[in-house]
Amino acid sequence: MKIAVCSTQAYDRQFFDAANQDGQHQLDYFEVTLNEETRNIVTGYPVVCVFVQDTLNAAVLQALAEQGTKLIALRCAGFNNVDIQAAAHLGLHVVRVPAYSPHSVAEHSIALMMGLNRRIPRAYNRVRDGNFSLDGLLGFELRGKTVGIIGTGRIGLAVAEILKGFGCKLIAYDPQPDPTCIALGVEFVSLPQLYAASDIISLHAPLNKHTFHLINSAAVGQMKRGVMIINTSRGGVIDTAAVIAGLKSGRVGALGLDVYEQEGDLFFQDLSNRVIQDDIFERLLTFHNVLITGHQGFFTREALTSIAQTTLENISLFESSGVCQNEVTMELLR
Ligand code: NAI
Repeated sequence: MKIAVCSTQAYDRQFFDAANQDGQHQLDYFEVTLNEETRNIVTGYPVVCVFVQDTLNAAVLQALAEQGTKLIALRCAGFNNVDIQAAAHLGLHVVRVPAYSPHSVAEHSIALMMGLNRRIPRAYNRVRDGNFSLDGLLGFELRGKTVGIIGTGRIGLAVAEILKGFGCKLIAYDPQPDPTCIALGVEFVSLPQLYAASDIISLHAPLNKHTFHLINSAAVGQMKRGVMIINTSRGGVIDTAAVIAGLKSGRVGALGLDVYEQEGDLFFQDLSNRVIQDDIFERLLTFHNVLITGHQGFFTREALTSIAQTTLENISLFESSGVCQNEVTMELLR
């Protein structure tokens, strides 16, 4: 099929061209992000392939439907950037890659945890500068610490499996407790219990109306003093201003982010020669106990191979049968 691949980076081309070696599909790459201003660039494409920074609100979807698009192929798991209700109303199908490599994101969550705890970025900079003082680099052992996992789907479970190896006590909150997690020894508790007991809280729930700003000032107020919060899910799960207040008061002892609420204006671009206008993001960067990466949890060879293959399989299935098990249906919104 003729596919417009939006928000293309060099690595997207590399992995999608490899997955399309048989030339089954015509892949046209666009570096621009799809949104209300750019919606006309994909005119005449039956399939539009998008990523997390593309905004497919009702207005964009309406334009796409009028321009001849039939299928939106997300090359990611989350679908919070697509108005699914509007898509259904317009008869547009939406498919995604629900599980490409949960281990990639899980391992990145652990990297943030370890990097923060043992102060690796700080230590690296010091040693490069000939400063071998250990003052300010004090960490703690993960063994025996309580980790609260919010959202025990594919990624949350992978995080639990790794942390079990560290000897952590694992507790979790999920409206649908996972039997595999229970078998692993994870204890499911209420959110207030999780906040009160956790030394580290790791977020792995999708962004939806129930999880938007889940970590707000009321939640932070219930947490243990000095708690470490890790978020590799979606930025909107955290009310950033509330967590900044928590960092200032010392209630939050460390914060590791791979996602940020306003990341659409920042991530996946080189802005090193520009002045960043987002004061909240800039404030986050001033804390010595905050570690931020720019949405790279998924960024492994294994995950990119799987994402490209599954995306093209989704499109082929849709082309041949009009049905795909990876379709994002209204059911998933509940
Ligand atoms: P999943 O669908 O396998 O698991 C999500 C889990 O969250 C489910 O068990 C669900 O019951 C639970 N959940 C739903 N509502 C909840 C709530 N209100 N409170 C607590 N738990 C709730 O999804 P998966 O694959 O584990 O991914 C999780 C999230 O990670 C995705 O939605 C996506 O936003 C994010 N992600 C981030 C990536 C990155 O590069 N940083 C890459 C891939 C996904």
